[in-house]
Amino acid sequence: MFFFAILLGIAEIVSTIWRLSVKSKGKKEYDIRRTWMKHIHEGLLLISFCLIGYGIYQAVKIPEVTRINLVLKGMASDAVPLKIAVLADLHADMISDRGRIEAIVEKTNALEPDLVVIAGDFVDGRPEEFGRNLEALQFLNAKYGVYGVPGNHEYYSGYGPWMKFLEGLGIRMLLNDSVVLEENHVVVAGVTDPAARRKHEAEPDFDLALEKAPDNLPVILLCHQPKLAGEAAGRKVALQISGHTHGGMVWGLKKLVARFNNGFVSGLYQLDDTTLLVSNGTGIWSGFPIRIGCPSEIILLTCLPDPEAAGTFSLENPLKEKPDAEASSSASSYILETYEEEEIPHLSTPDSGAIFNTEEETSSHPVTKVPMKE
Ligand SMILES: [Fe+2]
Repeated sequence: MFFFAILLGIAEIVSTIWRLSVKSKGKKEYDIRRTWMKHIHEGLLLISFCLIGYGIYQAVKIPEVTRINLVLKGMASDAVPLKIAVLADLHADMISDRGRIEAIVEKTNALEPDLVVIAGDFVDGRPEEFGRNLEALQFLNAKYGVYGVPGNHEYYSGYGPWMKFLEGLGIRMLLNDSVVLEENHVVVAGVTDPAARRKHEAEPDFDLALEKAPDNLPVILLCHQPKLAGEAAGRKVALQISGHTHGGMVWGLKKLVARFNNGFVSGLYQLDDTTLLVSNGTGIWSGFPIRIGCPSEIILLTCLPDPEAAGTFSLENPLKEKPDAEASSSASSYILETYEEEEIPHLSTPDSGAIFNTEEETSSHPVTKVPMKE
């Protein structure tokens, strides 16, 4: 509908200009131009229907896998790399049905992740309506389990029952809470969503979420909305994983979506020592079921040890496995190359595109957009 409206608007403007231009000319020329306008209208209508069809197909198809290797700042230099499957914005509803979620689970399990995280917006509806769609999530298979945080949509349709339902599927919901993955020497934490405020539920509390995290371990924080990344950066969180934006949904809307999310739309960003990963989402919101140029994705994120960090010898659980030295060095060089070769856009530069702040959670931390590596 978005394209349909835009294209018809263009057609109307062109039509009006032509009508005015031929007003003083003969009837024959007027008829010829009117016939042409009719053809243009039909052509634009056809194009808009094709774009809508393509956009819906892109929105509902089973997502591709995006692979990212990332050196996790502060991860013990001899720790075991951690493979994380990142899902977000499943939005179980009439479109994101049982079969689609089952296919996503199957594809995720095939990646053999150590950990699965789900960054909020599981649903669009009540558990009795769409809980059935999500039942396949209980079959997600990962060595260290499945962790999640609520998104804003969980608060719109029965927050309490949904949390209970998701926990019942074996998903550990991190509601301002954290756990330590001892073998990899990292902390996984999660916060609730700002939508909690309107429903009188527990609001995001970063301090509480990180309270149990040992100081010497890097933290991977699940936080549905990327605009809160400044809070994470202020607490030296190593990595924040978010969703919510759907990657902008349509190519031309990215800047608009950025305006409402402190400039964070899709991919990797750097805020001081904190890396922010914003998923395009694994599903789609039925309120705008179109994707063009912003494909849904299952992210396989491999967190690699930080060569500059200390080893794990001083911790209580010494590691038996050695890190994958080749993978570690290639990821390090990728990050370094990115910084050397690019003119790094700073928050305050006018040409920094989507990197600007508009809302009250505005971060004072310098932000760098780091292109995703396929
Ligand atoms: Fe959301």
